[in-house]
Amino acid sequence: MSKPCLVCENPIEAFVDYGRMPIANGFLKKEDFPNEYFFRLHAGFCPKCHMVQLLEQPAREQMFHENYAFFSGTSKSMAVHFAGFAEHVLKDFIADSKDPFVVEMGSNDGIMLQNFAAKNIRHLGIEPSANVAKVAVERGIRTLNEFFDEKLARRIVAENGQADAFLAANVTCHIPYIHSIAAGVAILLKPKGVMMFEDPYLGDVIEKTSYDQIYDEHVFVFSLHSVAAAFGRHGLEVVDVEPQTTHGGSMRYILAHKGARPVSERVGALLAKELALGLTKAATFDQFRRNCEKSRDELKALLERCKKEGKRVVGYAATSKSTTVTNYCGITPDLVEFISDTTPIKHGKFSPGVHIPVKPYEDFKARYPDYALLFGWNHAEEIAAKEQDFRKAGGKWILYVPKVHVA
Ligand code: SAH
Ligand code: TMP
Ligand code: ZN
Repeated sequence: MSKPCLVCENPIEAFVDYGRMPIANGFLKKEDFPNEYFFRLHAGFCPKCHMVQLLEQPAREQMFHENYAFFSGTSKSMAVHFAGFAEHVLKDFIADSKDPFVVEMGSNDGIMLQNFAAKNIRHLGIEPSANVAKVAVERGIRTLNEFFDEKLARRIVAENGQADAFLAANVTCHIPYIHSIAAGVAILLKPKGVMMFEDPYLGDVIEKTSYDQIYDEHVFVFSLHSVAAAFGRHGLEVVDVEPQTTHGGSMRYILAHKGARPVSERVGALLAKELALGLTKAATFDQFRRNCEKSRDELKALLERCKKEGKRVVGYAATSKSTTVTNYCGITPDLVEFISDTTPIKHGKFSPGVHIPVKPYEDFKARYPDYALLFGWNHAEEIAAKEQDFRKAGGKWILYVPKVHVA
């Protein structure tokens, strides 16, 4: 029996199964190995509304809690990105408002809202993971430590009035109760208000075989087709789209109450492009599965060869995405000695499922390996600039997006 689509309840068609998976951000201590949580990571496509989605997702409290391991502020280029995002909102969407009010869902450590707080603009972050929310509060960013949904939207309106802008980055695709989110946004927005959200884009995932975007938190991989279908049910219309290079290729969607704002020509153009790319056809996803299998087999073979030749391979950046790669490909500590990462809370812990040790960046610098397996490939530019000494010392990068290769 196939499952009903989370958006339209039509039966979904499964197209890829990555097998038994742990929580992607569930970096853990040795004593917690016996209690590690696993679920089945398999994804499907809805032939009716075209939403790509997980068939199973762990409960939200398994993923977002007081020990959430992802701090947005660890990437400098993301801080620059969000400063630009905020500037766009300020200049093009709320400049005319007398007392603008900006709400952000999944505000994490305040990486985006700090730009509004610095200008004394009324703002409110909604962040359920207590540890990251605390960092934001300490930086003077108004934050509610809760999950956003329709009920919370009503409370926010009662306490603050409606919002000019509702922002969300890398969080809307995490939330299976998308109808409650969309209904909440419709309640929260002023008549001319906008919702602006961005998430990894299905077109990039398909084109680059970046299957590591599929993990527990990412219950959806959005396209313009599927976003329009989901939010359209709540009287919200996509009025513009802005492609982003972040997270290996994302799309920013700008929505407003239907009819409230003119629809950009870019919307029609992207819909046509998605049709041409096959994002509405099941056959595209069958080909994607074959591409994943090929990528897995080639990466495993490359790492086995390095091991046979006695080369040292170290993982670079213990990203949440890497959990799908290491577990799907069977990359164990005999193939990758450790993963270097700059986030203190991950140090001394082990990667989810395959249990590769995570060590501070200083360990990488102290003794360069022969190869660095770039799990943070979406930050390749920032990292390459930083790691020129590694290259000069003869070090090489192993990459697997868009194809397995050594650089
Ligand atoms: N916007 C940041 C953080 C993305 S990580 C960035 O792009 O870097 C996703 C964040 O969303 C996590 O901090 C998580 O705790 C939060 N989150 C998950 N479900 C949520 C919900 N229903 N409402 C608000 N935030 C949520
Ligand atoms: P992300 O790809 O989900 O943003 O994950 C970023 C992770 O990568 C985070 O744990 C920090 C780590 N990281 C490094 O260790 N070094 C770096 O130079 C960068 C940019 C990130
Ligand atoms: Zn559907």
